[in-house]
Amino acid sequence: MSSFSRITGTGSYLPPRRLSNADMVARLAQDGIETSDDWIVERSGISARHFADEGVFSSDLAVHACQEALRAAGRSASEVDLIIVATSTPDMVFPSTACILQGKLGAIGGAAFDVQAVCSGFVYALTVADALIKTGSARCALVVGAEIFSRILDFKDRGTCVLFGDGAGAVVLEASDTPGILSTDVHADGRHVDMLCVPGHVQGGLVSGVPLLKMAGQAVFKLAVGVLEDAARAVLSKAGKVESDIDWLIPHQANIRIIQSTAKKLKLPMENVILTVGQHGNTSAASIPLALDVGVRSGRVQKGQTLLLEGVGGGFTWGAVLLTL
Ligand code: UT7
Repeated sequence: MSSFSRITGTGSYLPPRRLSNADMVARLAQDGIETSDDWIVERSGISARHFADEGVFSSDLAVHACQEALRAAGRSASEVDLIIVATSTPDMVFPSTACILQGKLGAIGGAAFDVQAVCSGFVYALTVADALIKTGSARCALVVGAEIFSRILDFKDRGTCVLFGDGAGAVVLEASDTPGILSTDVHADGRHVDMLCVPGHVQGGLVSGVPLLKMAGQAVFKLAVGVLEDAARAVLSKAGKVESDIDWLIPHQANIRIIQSTAKKLKLPMENVILTVGQHGNTSAASIPLALDVGVRSGRVQKGQTLLLEGVGGGFTWGAVLLTL
């Protein structure tokens, strides 16, 4: 049994179809709804997002991200004994997107399951994978965030449809004698289910309710800035580290203003924050592994550095992971 789990490779994938804010302005105008590049950039920091084409599913985006992550780790699919996919936009009601992905990758035989914690999903999935590796249940895991939020957006609601995008990110997490993941901290507060939800379900072959994203933006914003600071301080304290030990903040990419507020509270200059929200929008569970991969592939995030990953989202859920790359 190994004492630690460690990220040995990262990968990501964005579907090719890119929509600028100007494209969103034009799309909403067809329904007589007004928005503007200025509003979207000023309130969220978002300039563009990617949308998957019809017939493409979360598992398809995940396959690309996982293949890149496996290549970076120098591992083959046959060595993978655990796949956890964080998603709120699964391919089907069941089986899990993780099982569908496992089949597509040819990584047969290990455990595979989905984690549903909306935008905190990747932090939850990494926490679970770390625990399974530390207890000896797995040695080589793929931990994935994959989303096609464009399918659950209400294009009549300008307050939400301009914020989200599609994408996938993945890491290979392996058993290791050196750290690795230093500490994790995950939480939920089920009193706030209605604050951010997709209130629909399948019943008798039909969809019951309204399966489109609803968000009380300002309420989410207020809760988010508080709990993200709490989670960051919790992982630092559990690992016996302080703010100045953090080399990179790799946050969930929901809104530049939330990210700036968290960085300020942790006394981290924005030069130490990986930002992708401008070009990706909010890709929910995929946003943290996407940002991590962008940071690694750009050469900024390097082996041996200390990273703080943190997310917040529907549920209400939130959490953080502190790790040495
Ligand atoms: O990933 C999960 C976690 N999610 C988040 O962290 C999201 C957190 N919340 C936010 O990021 C922000 O609350 C939003 C970006 C969603 C909204 O920003 P805001 O500064 O809270 O704006 P608001 O909702 O208070 O709306 C301000 C105004 C309203 O008009 P009035 O009532 O002041 O006349 C809206 O109707 O902006 C209007 N508005 C828009 N105007 C142009 C809302 N959406 C748009 C739009 N274009 N797309």
